[in-house]
This record gives sequence, structure tokens and C-alpha cells, in this order.
Amino acid sequence: MKRMAVFISGGGSNLQALIDACREGKIQGEIGLVVSNQGDAYGLVRARQAAIPTLTMPLRHWKERGLSRQQFEEDLAAILTPWKVDLVVLAGWMLILGPPFLDRVRVPVINLHPALPGAFPGTHAIQRAWEAYQRGGSHITGVMVHHVIPEVDAGPVLGSQEVVILDTDDLEALEGRIHMAEHDLLVHVVADILKGEEAR
Ligand code: GRF
Repeated sequence: MKRMAVFISGGGSNLQALIDACREGKIQGEIGLVVSNQGDAYGLVRARQAAIPTLTMPLRHWKERGLSRQQFEEDLAAILTPWKVDLVVLAGWMLILGPPFLDRVRVPVINLHPALPGAFPGTHAIQRAWEAYQRGGSHITGVMVHHVIPEVDAGPVLGSQEVVILDTDDLEALEGRIHMAEHDLLVHVVADILKGEEAR
């Protein structure tokens, strides 16, 4: 059975989509471990409800001990080793991971980002797409899943899905549709990878 580790920082609605898809057989695989950098992330509750092992790795514990960000990333990669995962999924994970992590993890690391390739890298992507539309910009935004490389939200794209901004939308309505598109795309991409096919 192929196994993935899912990294989260918050509510974990994308984690929940993966949990449900594994249970329903849409993904031929299992979630072996959920890692959060936030001890109060609701996604940890979702993992425990699904009897999935969890690890909390708050960066501030390293900082408080005078340890570097590089040491944090190296340790984050090291804790994965015994879990023997085939894939690392960053799903609502809010820390940038660079070479200290990426060079040590010997399996693909993929990231979900709530914008189209090259559109709004970094944080608050949905709000930035919304504000651009309000200023007369494009009414097309979307979501993507990509391989993680050191440049933020810029690795080879594994899949993307457009989301139209409607005149009747407020930001909350748009966010809701974006998250639904995320859940759908992430499940499809992970299912393809674990089946051994590169995703759409
Ligand atoms: C999602 O838009 C995700 O892409 C972003 O954080 C939001 C919440 O994700 N990084 P989740 O509900 O914690 O999965």
C-alpha cells in the first residue's frame, strides 16, 4: 500500500479530502502520518479522528533553543525516514521548505496552491486574485498542485483547475469555491501519483 505524509498548518480541509478519498478508494494509498507546525491546527483533530499518527513540529521550539531554520528543516526531513512514505503532500502548509529539507527527502514533495501557475505566488493568493478582479483584472483564477522546488510556488505543475470569479461573488463565496476546487484537484493528483501516473 503506497503511503503519504500530509503536512498541514491549519484547518485541514484538504487533509480531510485526502482522508475521505483514501477511505472511499478514490486514492489507492494511505496517509501514514500528519505533520503540523501548529499545535492547535484543527487538521490534527481530523487526523486523530481518522486514527492517523500525528507529529507537531513548531518552528519556534527550534528558535527558542537557538537552533536555525536550516536545522528545523533537516530535522523535519529526518523525522520522515522511519515512516517510509512514498510521497509528501503539503496541504495548507504555511512554511517555505528549502534545500535543507528538499535535499534530504528522497520522495516527491508536492504542494497545493490556491492560484493558477505563476499568478499569485506566496500568501493570501485568493484575496489577491479577488482584489485584482475588483480593480478590473481577470475574472479567472484557480488552483494548482506542483512539485516543490526551493522557489516558492514555482515547481513543475502537476495539475491545475480554473475557478471563475462571479460578479455576485464576495470574497467568502470565492474562497468556498476555491477550496472545493482544491479538494477535487488534490485528490485527483495524489491518486494519479500513487497509481504511478504523472497527474493531468
Ligand atoms: C488552502 O487554500 C490552502 O491551499 C492554503 O490554506 C488554505 C486552507 O487549507 N495553503 P486547509 O483547509 O488547511 O487544507
